[in-house]
Amino acid sequence: MPNPSHIQGVEISRLADQFGTPLYIYDGEKIVSQVKTLQEAFSTVPLKIKYATKALSNINILKLIRKAGAGIDAVSIEEAKLGMLAGFSSEEIMYTPSGVGFEEIQEAVELGIMINLDSLPLMEQFGRAYGGSLGACIRINPHIMAGGNIKISVGHKESKFGISIEQLPQILDVVEKYQLNIVGLHIHTGSDILDAEVFLKGGNVLFEAAMKFPNLKFLDFGGGFKVAYKPHDVATDVMEVGRAVSSAFQEFCKTYGRQLELWLEPGKFLVSEAGYLLVKANVVKETPTVTFVGVDSGLNHLIRPMMYDAYHSVYNLSNPEGKKAKYNVVGYICETDTIAAHRELTEVKQGDLLVIKNAGAYGFSMASNYNSRLRPAEVLIWEGKPILIRRREEFEDLIRHQEICEF
Ligand code: LLP
Repeated sequence: MPNPSHIQGVEISRLADQFGTPLYIYDGEKIVSQVKTLQEAFSTVPLKIKYATKALSNINILKLIRKAGAGIDAVSIEEAKLGMLAGFSSEEIMYTPSGVGFEEIQEAVELGIMINLDSLPLMEQFGRAYGGSLGACIRINPHIMAGGNIKISVGHKESKFGISIEQLPQILDVVEKYQLNIVGLHIHTGSDILDAEVFLKGGNVLFEAAMKFPNLKFLDFGGGFKVAYKPHDVATDVMEVGRAVSSAFQEFCKTYGRQLELWLEPGKFLVSEAGYLLVKANVVKETPTVTFVGVDSGLNHLIRPMMYDAYHSVYNLSNPEGKKAKYNVVGYICETDTIAAHRELTEVKQGDLLVIKNAGAYGFSMASNYNSRLRPAEVLIWEGKPILIRRREEFEDLIRHQEICEF
C-alpha cells in the first residue's frame, strides 16, 4: 500500500492549506471501485449490496454509494432518514435495529422501510401490530465466533445480537401465531473476518433455517470483510468468498426451489481504505525512552486505536524521504490517547503533516466532542476535485443545545 501524496491528482498538503487540519479526506473513486469489486466477486448471483451506513454516514458518501448501485442497511431511524435524504427509496433501505423502542420500529414502518427483527419479543410486538401485512426479515444469531476483536464479534452465543439459532422452534411459533410474512433471513457474524470459511459456515446456518420459511426473497450474509490495515496485512479475498459463497448459495436455491437474492452489508470494505485523517504535528517531545509526536487530533476523532487496539498506518507527508526513527504518535486528549505506538516514521518536525490511513470506516462516524473539542471537516475527492462535504465544527456547535440557566 503506497503512501500517497496525491489523491486523484489532488495534492494532499494543499487540502491542509485550503481546509485546515485535522481533516477527513475520502477518495470517492476508491469507494466506487470497492463496490464494483464486490459486484464482480458475486456476479453469478442476484446480489444486493446494503452498505452499512454506520461506517461513514455523510449524506454525500451515501449519495455516492447509491450512484454505484448499492442500497443501505441502517441501524437507527436517524441513519434511515439520512439515507432517504441521500435519495434512497424506502425499498432500498433495510432497518436492522438492536433492542430499540417500538416507536422507532413504527416510524420505520411508516416510512415504508423493512425491519430486520432481532428478538422474540420484537417479533411478538411486530406480529400484534402488523400481522402478516408487511414483509420482514429475521436476524439469526448463528453462534459463530469470528472477528478481529471480541468487541466486534457479534455472531457468537453470548452476543446480544439476533435470535439464537437454537431458538428456531420459538421463532417458527411466533411466525405461525401471527402469520408473519418473513421474506428474508439475516446473519452478521462480526467485523474483520478474514476467512471465506466463516461466510460459508454462516451460509450453512442460513440455508438450514431457510428451509422452514417458504416465502423468502433473500438471504443476507451481513458484512465483515477484513481490509488491510497494516502494510503487509492480508485482507479477505473477496473473489474467493464470492466464488465459494455464490456456488453454495446457488446449490441451496436449487434445493429451496426458487432463485433468491443474496444480500451483503459491507461497511469497512467499501469505505475504510478510501479515508485518510490528515493531522498536524503540534509538538515533538523527547523523553528518556520515547519520542512522542503530539498531533492536533486524538481519540475524539479516531477512536479505533484506543477502543479496539486497532492498527492504523501513519506516514509523514511533509518529509517523505527523511531519516527514519521510532515515534509514538499521540493525540491531544487528556487521557492516554495513543494513535500509533513505536512506529517508524520519517523524521517528524513540529508543523509536519501526518496522514493516518484507513480512516474511512468508523472514523468520523464514531467521532465525538470529548474534551469539548470540535469535530473535523470532511472532504470528498470526486472527479479530481475536492468537495467540502461537512464544515469544520465551530465553538457555537458545542453550545448549540446547552441552556445557560440562571439558578
Ligand atoms: N451489518 C451489521 C448488522 C453490522 O452490525 C455491521 C457492523 C456491518 C454490517 C458492517 O460490518 P463491516 O463490514 O464494517 O465490518 N466500530 C468497529 C466495527 C463495528 C461494526 C459494527 N457492525 C470498528 O471500528 O472496527
